[in-house]
Amino acid sequence: MDRNLALECVRVTEAAALSAAKWVGKGNDEEADRAAVNAMRLSLADLRIRGRVVIGEGERDEAPMLFIGEEVGNGYGPEVDIAVDPLEGTTITAQGRYNALAVIAIANKGEFLNAPDTYMEKLAVGPQAKGAIDLTKTPTENLKNIAKAKRVSVQDLTVIILERDRHNDLIKEVREAGARIRLIQDGDISAALATCWPDRGVDVLMGTGGAPEGVLAAAALRCIGGDMQGRLVFRKEEEKERAKAMGIRELQKIYRIHELAGGDVMFAATGVTNGDFLKGVRFFPGGAETHSVVMRSTTGTIRYLEATHNFNVKPPTF
Ligand code: FBP
Repeated sequence: MDRNLALECVRVTEAAALSAAKWVGKGNDEEADRAAVNAMRLSLADLRIRGRVVIGEGERDEAPMLFIGEEVGNGYGPEVDIAVDPLEGTTITAQGRYNALAVIAIANKGEFLNAPDTYMEKLAVGPQAKGAIDLTKTPTENLKNIAKAKRVSVQDLTVIILERDRHNDLIKEVREAGARIRLIQDGDISAALATCWPDRGVDVLMGTGGAPEGVLAAAALRCIGGDMQGRLVFRKEEEKERAKAMGIRELQKIYRIHELAGGDVMFAATGVTNGDFLKGVRFFPGGAETHSVVMRSTTGTIRYLEATHNFNVKPPTF
């Protein structure tokens, strides 16, 4: 894949973030999401790729745009698979809270897990604890191994967990093991990313969140040198059938990071609201500023981009 493609991807997440940011704090999840999807789709059409959405807004009949299987790009260039979350944190955006992002990842054809829209049990860590995680082990055992890899004690670790009733047992066990916990309302892609920078004060993401978000988080962690494992979690029989139809043979399989996002991967994200590692969109009369990150697994380069958008010269898509 052409390395310049990674920079082109930022335009796509910037467009989605700018459109979604119009809806920050307005209490309307659906409109915020629709705005992001619309803008992302429009700007994807300019990318020099023959792309196919593998992680998107759902199946064709339930999602009018960026549905799984949709072809995107200008029809030239490399054949690639696309994973998108035009607005990661729709509720966060609607409530004007922290950590909403517009996200895209690109890989060569066939390199992303075709994850159905189910849940995924996740374990994610930064580079210092690479190789120390194992979903077959208990949270306590994982904490001990992560602490060993980081040369600290379990009491020094902070676990980031989505605040959900399904995590009550996990939270209890982590507390008993002696680690600290940071509970978040939403947004486990940015939670997985937070484990990669020591100054974010988070060592490991544990718990169950969206499977599509798991693939996107794995793509980002591949670029940063972190580690992740995921196992699909099904709530009903219908979800199992959908997974099988999407080519998942072993429903209980534990996916390693390269099986979630393999080969040469690119990842880009733009902040919609202020967050742990990106600033949100800041509007000013006649324009806006955006803050984005773009990274590639091949080089491990992580670039932050601050952009000033002049709406008088280039009107936004919203
Ligand atoms: P949305 O932006 O689609 O609302 O996702 C936010 C999110 O918190 C994800 O980060 C996470 O993986 C998932 O929802 C968890 O799902 P649920 O809210 O059903 O527990």
